[in-house]
This record gives sequence, structure tokens and C-alpha cells, in this order.
Amino acid sequence: MIQTYGRLSLLLVMTLAVLVVMTRLGHTAIQAKEDREPPVPLAGLATDEQARFEEGRKLFELPFAPREGLGPAFNARACAACHHIPTIGGHGPGYRGNIRYTENDQGPAGKLFHDRSIAGGPAETLPANALLSKRRPPALLGLGLVEAIPEEAILARADPDDRDGDGIRGRPAMRDGHLLRFGSQSHVGSLFEFVADALRQEMGLTSPLQGFDREPGNLELPAFGKKHIPEPNLSVDAIRKIVDFVAQLAPPPRDTSLIGDAQVARGERLFGELDCAKCHVPAFRSRSTPFTRLGDEATVAVSALLGQEIAPYSDFLLHDLGPSLNDGIALGVAKPSEYRTPPLWGLRFHKNLLLHDGRANSPEQAILYHGGEAARSRNRFLKLPAEDRQALIEFLKTL
Ligand code: HEC
Ligand code: HEC
Repeated sequence: MIQTYGRLSLLLVMTLAVLVVMTRLGHTAIQAKEDREPPVPLAGLATDEQARFEEGRKLFELPFAPREGLGPAFNARACAACHHIPTIGGHGPGYRGNIRYTENDQGPAGKLFHDRSIAGGPAETLPANALLSKRRPPALLGLGLVEAIPEEAILARADPDDRDGDGIRGRPAMRDGHLLRFGSQSHVGSLFEFVADALRQEMGLTSPLQGFDREPGNLELPAFGKKHIPEPNLSVDAIRKIVDFVAQLAPPPRDTSLIGDAQVARGERLFGELDCAKCHVPAFRSRSTPFTRLGDEATVAVSALLGQEIAPYSDFLLHDLGPSLNDGIALGVAKPSEYRTPPLWGLRFHKNLLLHDGRANSPEQAILYHGGEAARSRNRFLKLPAEDRQALIEFLKTL
């Protein structure tokens, strides 16, 4: 009798335990979806600029539906789906269908593959023998300040013919006399152009701007489904709101707790000695006067963007990093082996998905893939004593 009672209570305790764990799990699953950390705006925004940030944020987080213009082909319903780590506006958890491809004999210009459609299921079939290149969604934090770096300051660092003989060239991506500085291959000129392009390409939302007013993809295909709402789907003002949101995101904060640490200081010195800092340039100053964005005539006069010292750790130029990163796809004026130096600020928030296609899972791995113009730098890293290599990595982990 006592034994049966004991067994029964054991069973009861176990059932309760399972129930508790299940509710917890359910709770975490719901939390994981909704628990996205809010975006952090630049310090010192005026009240109207803050209001603008909030309006843009709503559009950035909004999951669009077909009746609002989504599709027919798309990769995600909201910008935030691909940009939310560690806060809204940050980098993405994976590729979410972000695959560029080229067709046979069509040259290296990569088209974006759309993996969903409003008719359900995948929208496109990849051509046989298509070349593929995955692209990881980068963080957008601090990009308004990057946009405010004077063109001359970036061009001053270019050395396409390697006149100083250090093996590092750095080529500016130019279009009609203007520098392009956004995208993994510097193929986009401004946040305005990038946002209009992302809306159209990733979500199928058209706007009145020339080049962004038609749906992407082959609308004849039944797999695309039909949209029954008037084109264009969004106004220029809606685009500007999203641009202002992105532009006013604060840069990722540095981990200041280790700044005085001797190992970190040694790592920072090595970062300079190994020429990492020649491409991953630690300091720029944003322009001090109002400016306009490529593709838009509106004036940017947000004072929190002007005259700021920033530490992006990039030169925003194209570099040829050799054959191992060359996947045969090129965007804009870049060659398939050329990539824009990615900013290293916020590196500590990346648990994986480093390099343009996310192939590296740690800073060490990313360094090992550096070849071409950065081969000398990588080889010097490999020759360092273990404790120096560690010091460099510890420094990178504070960014
Ligand atoms: C399906 C995933 C996905 C969605 C949705 C998405 N993006 Fe992106 N985003 C990416 C990827 C991938 C890249 C990198 C592309 C490249 O340069 O190769 C990127 C790059 C960017 C960049 C350039 C970053 C830089 O460092 O130059 C901006 C700006 C941007 N996205 C804004 C947006 C906005 C605004 C939206 C919503 C309209 C959006 N994205 C929706 C995946 C996405
Ligand atoms: C010649 C210019 C150049 C030099 C020198 C250079 N890098 Fe890079 N670095 C790049 C480029 C370009 C990429 C992006 C390649 C890609 O996306 O495939 C990159 C990517 C990275 C990344 C991955 C960042 C990310 O967000 O994916 C890290 C980390 C990095 N470099 C660290 C270093 C360190 C440390 C050194 C010195 C040992 C160094 N780099 C030297 C140009 C350079």
C-alpha cells in the first residue's frame, strides 16, 4: 500500500515536472519570437527626429501582407526579419533565402533569388548550372554616420595602383563620379537607394522612383501569384521614414570593460603592426555640414550625424582578397574577387556568419580566409607566437 502510494506520488511529481518544463518551453518559444530587443537611436536626437525614428521603426518591423503590396515574389515580410541581432536593425540569424545567382554565360552580375511567393511555395527555380553566392544580412547599426563620412576622406585612402608598394590597394567603387560605399561589394551609393532596393527586391514593394517601380521577377509565372493592389505600393515619404530610422541607429557600443587590459592593448598594437588597420581603418570623422543622399534631394541636417568621431574599422573600399573568397558573382563595379572591407564595430555580437557569405564562424577563421591583398597580413598573423595571436583576438572581441 505504502509502496503503491510512493509510486503514485513519484508519477505525480514527474508529471508535474514535465508540465512545468513544457510550459517553460512554450513560454520561451513565444518569447524568442517577440522578445526582440528594441533599436537604439543615436544620442542627442531632437524631438522631431526621434518621432521620425519611431515612424520608420514601425515600417521596418511591420510584417507586410499582400494587400499592402507584399510580393508577388519575396524573401521575408519585414526588414526586421533579417536585421535584428543584437537589437532591431542589427544583423541576421541566417541567410533567409539571400542567395545571388547567375545564369550560364550571362556574366558575373548576380541576381537575387526569391524563395517565397504570395501564391505559396518557392517563387523561382534556379537555372541548371547556376552559380550561387550566399550573402549574410549585415548589421545596419551606425550606417547613417558611415554615410556622413566625406567622400574625400575615403578616396584619400585609395591606392588602386599600389604606389606605396605595401601590397594593399583599395579601389573606390565609382558610379557617375560618385563613390558607392554600401553593400558587400560596394554596389549601392546611399541608404536611400539601399532601402528602396531592399523593399523592392526582398519584399516586392514598389515605389515611384525610377528603377524601383516595377515588380522583380517574371510575373508570367503562375507560381508568383497575382497582386491586386495599385502600383507603386509605397510613397517616397515611406521610404524616407525607413531611411531616417536606419540612418539614426546608434553604432554598436564597444565593450569598454576591457579597454585598460594589457592583453587587449597588446592586441590593438598588433592590429596596427600587422596592417589590419590599413583596411579596417579605426577612425573617421563625419562631415560637419548638411548633405544630400545619392538618389534623393532631401537635405540631411540631423546634428547627431554631423561632426562625429567614429570608429567603424573599415576603409569602405574594394579589395581583392584572392581566389578563396571568389565565388564568381559580382555586384556593381566589383570584380567577383573584390569585397568591400566590412566594418568591425559590433564584431563581438556576431556568434558566427562572418565574411560576405557567412562561411567563417570566428574571427580566427575569418582571418585565415584573407588572401590576395591581405595575404601578407594573414601570414604575419600565422607566424605570431600563440599568446600574441590570442591578444589580437581578445582585442577584436572588444569591438
Ligand atoms: C531576406 C533578408 C533581408 C531582408 C528582408 C532585408 N534585408 Fe537588408 N540585407 C540583407 C542582406 C543579405 C544584405 C547584404 C547584401 C549584400 O550587400 O551582399 C543586406 C544589406 C542591407 C543594407 C546595406 C548594409 C551595408 O553595410 O552596406 C541595408 C541598408 C539594408 N540591408 C536595409 C534593409 C531594409 C531597410 C530592409 C527592409 C526594407 C531590408 N534590408 C530587408 C538581407 C535582408
Ligand atoms: C587588404 C585589406 C584587408 C586587410 C589587410 C585585412 N582585412 Fe580583414 N577583411 C577585408 C575584407 C575585404 C573583408 C571581407 C571579405 C568578405 O566579405 O568575404 C574582411 C573581413 C574581415 C573580418 C570578418 C568581418 C565580418 O563582419 O565578416 C575580420 C574579423 C577581419 N577581416 C579581421 C582582420 C584582421 C584581424 C586583419 C589583420 C590580421 C585583417 N582583417 C586584415 C580586408 C582586409
